[in-house]
Amino acid sequence: MTHFMANQPEGFIIMPKIAVPSLNSRRYAETFAVFVEHSLEYPQMLDELVRVTQFLRDGFRLLDIGAGTGLLIRSWSERFGSIRPGRYVAFEPNPQHVECLLATVAELEVDHDIQARPFTLDTPLSKEFDLALFSHSLYWMPDPALHMLHAASALVGGGAALAFLGGPYGVHAMFPLFEPFIERTTPMLQNNAISSHELVHGLRSYGVEPEVRILPTPIDLTGLFEPSAAPQLAEFISFCMQLEFTRLPAWLQADMIQYVQGGCVPQNGRLYWYLPTASVLLSLSKG
Ligand SMILES: C[S@@+](CC[C@H](N)C(=O)[O-])C[C@H]1O[C@@H](n2cnc3c(N)ncnc32)[C@H](O)[C@@H]1O
Repeated sequence: MTHFMANQPEGFIIMPKIAVPSLNSRRYAETFAVFVEHSLEYPQMLDELVRVTQFLRDGFRLLDIGAGTGLLIRSWSERFGSIRPGRYVAFEPNPQHVECLLATVAELEVDHDIQARPFTLDTPLSKEFDLALFSHSLYWMPDPALHMLHAASALVGGGAALAFLGGPYGVHAMFPLFEPFIERTTPMLQNNAISSHELVHGLRSYGVEPEVRILPTPIDLTGLFEPSAAPQLAEFISFCMQLEFTRLPAWLQADMIQYVQGGCVPQNGRLYWYLPTASVLLSLSKG
């Protein structure tokens, strides 16, 4: 049996699709940790966060949606010094991440309310926040623009909603190339087909024009293509494709590795994959 794909040139034949499980929440947390280990984006995201939140005063109220392990709030607190959130509400459904997040906020001694569940369009909100933050979490939400607008409805006048999201490059470009070859046997958690491009057009379709900046954020893959690093590379690509990479046939593994390696640029003895992250900002007027 062969399958023909829509939008593909004639002769592009996909053999029977390869059954493969998506990452479950434990494997998601494990592979995300490998991704973060190599990512150089967080310092740039932090600079951007500091730049767009200069309006915040000590005691500000923060809504952090998809807070993860609390990595961003930790480095932001270190950078922000005397300006600290007076109220910190986070939504985070991944149990592994919630455990780390609770440890982070306890260590930072921030007054917190950690909601160990997903943020949805039905999540009741009251108008009380100065900042709503989505750091790489909108991929999980079926209509990312509407989720961002829902969070923005909880802002007080002069507040802002900020989303960090992969730009339409790298992982986003890779994802649809290989997805047609596979049949997921378990539901996918994070949809890497969503990038800032989809978010921005979604916001426009709701009549909202965001301020967008593309941050030149590389990911450092030095040494990852050495044979000894094969297990780490497998974790990295598992996260990119949101599946169990080692369960794929050798030819497909090789194609994915070649795709990532082919997009890397050597510089000053390091090997970088250019993976720009976008900052998408909605600012509410005062009053
Ligand atoms: C890529 S991680 C980013 C974590 C962190 N914000 C960071 O930048 O390092 C995405 C996080 O969003 C969480 N998430 C997924 N769906 C969510 C939802 N509906 N509401 C809140 N968080 C969600 C996931 O569990 C995961 O921890």
